[in-house]
Amino acid sequence: MAHITHSLGHDYEALHSSPTRLIRRAISCSSRRLILCCGVSGLLLFSTLFLFKRPPSFEDVRSYERRLPQHNLTEALHDTDLQPPGRRKYLRIEGGADTWEGGLNNVIQELTHTTYLAHRAKRAFVFSDFVWTNSRVPYKIYDRSLKPTKVPLNAFISGASAGGAVSDDASITMRSISLEFFDLVCPMNARVRLTARGAPINGEDGMILIEWWLKRLKDVENEPCVVLDFSHNHVFDWDYFGSRQPLTVFPHLKTSPTLTHFSWSPLVLSAVARNFAVLRPSDHRAVVSSQAHSGIGGLVAIHLRRGDFRGHCRYLGSTRASYLGLNQHENLPDKLHIDHRFSDEFIRTQHRRHCFPEINDIVEKLRQIRFESRVTPLKRVYVLSNGWPRWLSKLGEELRRDGWEDVINPADIKLDSKQDQVSVAVDMAIAERAEVFVGNGFSSVSANIIMLRLAKGMSYESNRFF
Ligand SMILES: *[C@@H]1O[C@H](CO)[C@@H](O)[C@H](O)[C@H]1NC(C)=O
Repeated sequence: MAHITHSLGHDYEALHSSPTRLIRRAISCSSRRLILCCGVSGLLLFSTLFLFKRPPSFEDVRSYERRLPQHNLTEALHDTDLQPPGRRKYLRIEGGADTWEGGLNNVIQELTHTTYLAHRAKRAFVFSDFVWTNSRVPYKIYDRSLKPTKVPLNAFISGASAGGAVSDDASITMRSISLEFFDLVCPMNARVRLTARGAPINGEDGMILIEWWLKRLKDVENEPCVVLDFSHNHVFDWDYFGSRQPLTVFPHLKTSPTLTHFSWSPLVLSAVARNFAVLRPSDHRAVVSSQAHSGIGGLVAIHLRRGDFRGHCRYLGSTRASYLGLNQHENLPDKLHIDHRFSDEFIRTQHRRHCFPEINDIVEKLRQIRFESRVTPLKRVYVLSNGWPRWLSKLGEELRRDGWEDVINPADIKLDSKQDQVSVAVDMAIAERAEVFVGNGFSSVSANIIMLRLAKGMSYESNRFF
């Protein structure tokens, strides 16, 4: 307090000084403020790091990406596997989910479509870092922990979209390249840019939008460096994946390298394998292999989004929203009926129960699913949730009382500091392997889990909704 009065006194005095003295004083004062400001922000940063534990760096993963075989300039400029030999061709997306800071699942949704588009146009896809935030700060607080601003994509996924194999032969011609390598092989003046102006973005059928892009890409088929600029008209964004448009694209994705060669990163898979004793697969291959079709027998994975979803679910009820995107697939057994004759009150209750189920709703639904299951007896539950530990342990108690042998909560999964940074993906990879998945029809996390399960050949019936 004494200091504040003191400096106020100085300012007051300055008012009565000569102009040069005034400026001199102003400078000394602002530099003092600057020091104070730096001190305070330094202290804040320090205490944040102290409180949250500094996140690990992913330099090893970045160096792995740099050394992928397709990142060789000589070969990229003269590929003898091409007919005729010449430059490889690339497709880069700008202004996509990484620019508008979409979460991991928005990024995965976009990647599936853009990688597919690149392959259809006979181009290698250009991947970039996963971006938690575009601001200049080095870290971002997310889901109660500190995240580095940018993470190499191969910390999360390593398949066709991230530079991994895109075919079963050894060819690297079509393998995705990093943005860093693209900048090297395609300097600014060599790039051709296409915008989304005039694209049929809000149609009913996603394939029409894909075909529109393919036609535009055909016009520039001889150009090695093509950029699609999504920054003015978001293309494969939140609206698109919320609508029915992806339903017509899915059958094509399912048989394209995008999904046939999709893979979680070795880091994510290592976390799944590390927890084999908790997941208890009867055949260990269910946790170590990405190809196993049968999954972890007897295990039901459930996705319960809590927290911010309470308000979101209320909003969805008020707009009479339907399930999003792929979750509306006609072969999925659980459907959401919305009839204009239903009263607002009825819709509100219905949406609350499906979107934000309470413990008794969850227990009841899982009892029904266990009863209907004809394959292996369902015995254990794996819970994916951002809910509070107390709520989760209450849920676990109720499920055990209802006859479930074991309930695995997020806290039961052991992760090291790097695996912890990709825990969303670890959860998804486990859900992808469970015999039955019960998701939230309004969630893109659930939609992506279902997409990956269906692409692996798991049955539609094994994907349920609350
Ligand atoms: C890149 O490819 C060329 C031609 O195949 C080869 O001679 C060179 O050693 C490669 N460079 C690296 C860094 O692997």
